[in-house]
Amino acid sequence: MQTFTIGGDLEVRRLGFGAMRITGDGIWGPPDDPDEAKRVLRRVVELGINLIDTADSYGPDVSEDLIAEALHPYPEGLVIATKGGLRRSGPGQWPRDGRPERLKECCEGSLRRLRLERIDLYQLHSPDPRVPLEDSLGALKELQDEGKIRHIGVSNVSRSDLDRARELVEVVTVQNRYNLTDRYSEDVLEACERDGIGFIPWFPLATGDLARPGGPLDAIARSHDATPGQLALAWLLARSPVMLPIPGTGSVAHLEENVAAADLELAPDELERLAAA
Ligand SMILES: NC(=O)c1ccc[n+]([C@@H]2O[C@H](COP(=O)([O-])OP(=O)(O)OC[C@H]3O[C@@H](n4cnc5c(N)ncnc54)[C@H](OP(=O)(O)O)[C@@H]3O)[C@@H](O)[C@H]2O)c1
Repeated sequence: MQTFTIGGDLEVRRLGFGAMRITGDGIWGPPDDPDEAKRVLRRVVELGINLIDTADSYGPDVSEDLIAEALHPYPEGLVIATKGGLRRSGPGQWPRDGRPERLKECCEGSLRRLRLERIDLYQLHSPDPRVPLEDSLGALKELQDEGKIRHIGVSNVSRSDLDRARELVEVVTVQNRYNLTDRYSEDVLEACERDGIGFIPWFPLATGDLARPGGPLDAIARSHDATPGQLALAWLLARSPVMLPIPGTGSVAHLEENVAAADLELAPDELERLAAA
């Protein structure tokens, strides 16, 4: 599997794992089967995946706790990327809170739960319209200067947010919603590609109508003996060398299927047909 180096010193395989789906319904509380969630995490490492994305708000706390329970002490080279800046008020609710004091509290909690002295990649989960970006990122810069964060990433940003963020701190990754059927963040991806910033597309498997029988994904998938989901991941990996998809699942079988997508090679005309679909 191809690799990408985040921030000049964290080499990761380009297909990562999103640890949001190892929690309860509405990303709230513990999963129905915590043992299966831990099996998924151990299998992630066995399969050679070394980028795991999480957040204090997944559960809340549940995803980070499970990662530490399943994987600590961590294998050499495993990059755990977490995020702060959202609160949880109930299942499916995600109010933003990007105040500096809150972000510092989030980061301290993540360090404790993940049993780390330093977080390799800490992402601002979302800009908070009530807090200047300067203040939110200023807090992350302070945490970085204190040695609690190695690199800073941003998430759910517009192109102008990204430009402003980069004037304030060194941004090494952007995590935005992006997939075959949702390319709203194309301008952000282009900026990342131009400047070697990692682009982490969330919701990478939202294949929607393209997966329907007889649709363009379906036909190409069948010719590769693959599933539409694998094709959607393979298309993302081919789309840009800075692309780092993090498909999420609470199932070992789905994880294995998703990781196998990294071996799919699509011909240029197939990529074009998919992009045009
Ligand atoms: N920055 C942000 O604001 C933000 C927002 C959302 C997500 N994220 C991150 O991005 C990651 C990925 O996003 P996501 O989890 O929302 O979307 P996703 O990866 O596109 O889809 C996950 C969904 O697809 C199912 N799935 C996964 N593999 C499958 C397979 N092989 N076959 C059939 N179904 C499959 C999962 O269910 P099963 O569990 O049943 O497999 C789950 O319901 C998250 O885990 C999280 O780390 C970030």
